[in-house]
Amino acid sequence: MMPIITIDGPSGSGKGTLARRLAQHLGFHLLDSGALYRLTALAAQKQQIDLSAAEVADVAETLNVRFDAAGAAYLDEVGVDSVLRTEQTGAMASQIAARPDVRAALLARQRAFAQAPGLVADGRDMGTVVFPSASVKIFLDASAQIRADRRYKQLIGNGLSANLAALIEEIQARDDRDRNRAVAPLIPAPDALVIDSSHLTIEAVEAQMMDFIRAQGVV
Ligand code: DC
Repeated sequence: MMPIITIDGPSGSGKGTLARRLAQHLGFHLLDSGALYRLTALAAQKQQIDLSAAEVADVAETLNVRFDAAGAAYLDEVGVDSVLRTEQTGAMASQIAARPDVRAALLARQRAFAQAPGLVADGRDMGTVVFPSASVKIFLDASAQIRADRRYKQLIGNGLSANLAALIEEIQARDDRDRNRAVAPLIPAPDALVIDSSHLTIEAVEAQMMDFIRAQGVV
């Protein structure tokens, strides 16, 4: 069976960075599922479709997106990386991600990333809904304060503006929405290894993940 490693967790837990590192280390494909929700929100906005309108599911279904080898995202062949990672786009993504029709429309597209030699998929419901029979499931968590702090440094490092107090509030609001929605809420799969990265370096988390992956016999 083709190995699939899922990494779920809240925004700012470090799952994006770790998924990228693991995929590189193992030579596996990478699915950044959050990017698909972000791109759907951006596409709807571009077409001036209200985020609560039924048409958003059609936007998700017909999304014209591509990721280049370096992971940069293109929407209708236009590079969108600069707007993709902003908190505003994240909040819009979280809003449409609560809708079952949008989630259903993105399901097949996400599953299509599972190709040889293997996949590392990061998101909120990778191990619970999209790839329930994944070989390895990991849930990465961290305190809201630490996640806000990391996001702050990341945004500033990318030349974007940021306000720490506002970030903590936004992260908590997004957590609440992602954890409490009726469809595919953010919860660890029963068979997931839960890691709290609050006081760990990226290297230490990666080492724990690799130990777990080896213990499952994937590599
Ligand atoms: O991981 P991210 O910050 O790029 O995700 C943006 C939003 O998309 C997040 O607030 C919740 C939603 N999302 C989701 O519901 N399911 C996923 N698998 C990935 C993201």
